[in-house]
Amino acid sequence: MTDRHSKGQEGAALSRPETFEIRIEGEAGSFRCRSDQPVLIAMRAAGKAGLPVGCRSGGCGICRIKIAKGDIRTGYMSSAYVSPEDKEAGYALACRVYPSSDLEVTHAPCRSKSQSTPARKAQAA
Ligand code: FES
Repeated sequence: MTDRHSKGQEGAALSRPETFEIRIEGEAGSFRCRSDQPVLIAMRAAGKAGLPVGCRSGGCGICRIKIAKGDIRTGYMSSAYVSPEDKEAGYALACRVYPSSDLEVTHAPCRSKSQSTPARKAQAA
């Protein structure tokens, strides 16, 4: 998993968007998502419901995912749900994920803001 541009959509605005295939673990089929479109919004537009939808602005954490395969760019994500260590480990918020390649993702819910994630547990050990 590579996060090519952590500062948002600036890069995508300069070039023509590409379209990639997104698969969510446990969800039948896949859907297409443009490189300038958040994965969560593309999922909804495709009529899929593999991930829960909340604030759509990176602030509630309900759409937290783990990138199993592929490259992404991200916009603003609350560090209460995706710490720098989590991000390094491949966690992100689907409403702030822009694909840079085909993706395979898994829903990785956070039960609370203070819950330890696998990355945080590893760091604490
Ligand atoms: S929907 Fe709230 S953080 Fe993604």
